[in-house]
Amino acid sequence: MEKIGILTGGGDCPGLNAVIRAVTRKSINEGYEVIGIRNGWKGLVEKDAITLNLESVSGILPKGGTILGTSRTNPYKKEGEVASVFVNYKALGLSALIAVGGEDTLGVAAKLSKEGMPVVGVPKTIDNDLSCTDYTFGFDTAINIATECIDRLHTTAESHHRIIVAEVMGRHAGWIAIESGIAGGADVILIPEVPIDIEEVCALIKRRHSRGKTFSIIVVAEGAQFKQSSMVLQEEKLDDFGHVRLGGIGEILGREIEKRTGYETRVSVLGHIQRGGSPTAFDRVLGTRFGVKAVELVKAKQFGQMAALSGNKIISAALSTATGKLKTVDQEYYELARTFFG
Ligand code: F6P
Repeated sequence: MEKIGILTGGGDCPGLNAVIRAVTRKSINEGYEVIGIRNGWKGLVEKDAITLNLESVSGILPKGGTILGTSRTNPYKKEGEVASVFVNYKALGLSALIAVGGEDTLGVAAKLSKEGMPVVGVPKTIDNDLSCTDYTFGFDTAINIATECIDRLHTTAESHHRIIVAEVMGRHAGWIAIESGIAGGADVILIPEVPIDIEEVCALIKRRHSRGKTFSIIVVAEGAQFKQSSMVLQEEKLDDFGHVRLGGIGEILGREIEKRTGYETRVSVLGHIQRGGSPTAFDRVLGTRFGVKAVELVKAKQFGQMAALSGNKIISAALSTATGKLKTVDQEYYELARTFFG
């Protein structure tokens, strides 16, 4: 029996278990054995793996997180780890590997594929910033959670006649901010792709208040930055993939708004709540379709490819292209969002 390995890497997100279940069920149907590698690339460096069968994936579809665990280990960072990955891939008797992850995990998959490993990818991230796919799974759940939070912030902001700044995740892309902001009826949305003009933000809030409104909701992406200043960091230390920890822009923005407008302002950082818990039906279905497609790509020996969504069709795209450039929010979409500012 040929063996397919599967690993989940990077930040977890709702829908990972739907992919693991789909890959396992489809692979077993196709006559493969399935090996689950624990904790992303770390598990392949350390040969930490388990066999997945129908029982191991039973009941996991609605569960958040990943039954395999995850890590932000980059085997290209430490001398000798890529060699261990190849040795352990062989030692586990794998004939293909399915890597489920975002730009970092799939970036490693693209490099390993160039070095001859038979790898296929599945695009995951709440940030929705991977190229070549209309959506990554996890994003829909994140924007639904963020939208619900914005709705809740609305009622308290209205009762207390306050400004509330909601800081959302998304790293260097404004997808979570723009979509939860539009869905939640935010009065200003600030994203990394468009530098913050604080005077304009305050003017928009004042204009709204001059219409008789006594509260406003501002959604800001963690990666947004003021004109002429750099990103706000929680920590400057870089992870294995060279990322800093973002966060804190909401607090700075809130203080500045209160100082300039005189309106009482509060800040709410949604953080990891956006990433936890049960996936939406959309993410369960997308994860399931991606998982089945990944096994089909393995069967067809189309390595170096990733399952992707185009319109309502599941297609495949080259891992190297998908990880070559971040997919960010375009100006046209931001203009649409602006219609509802102030
Ligand atoms: O990439 C997903 C994400 O949640 C980003 O939106 C965020 O910047 C980052 O991961 C947070 O990472 P960590 O869980 O390591 O704090």
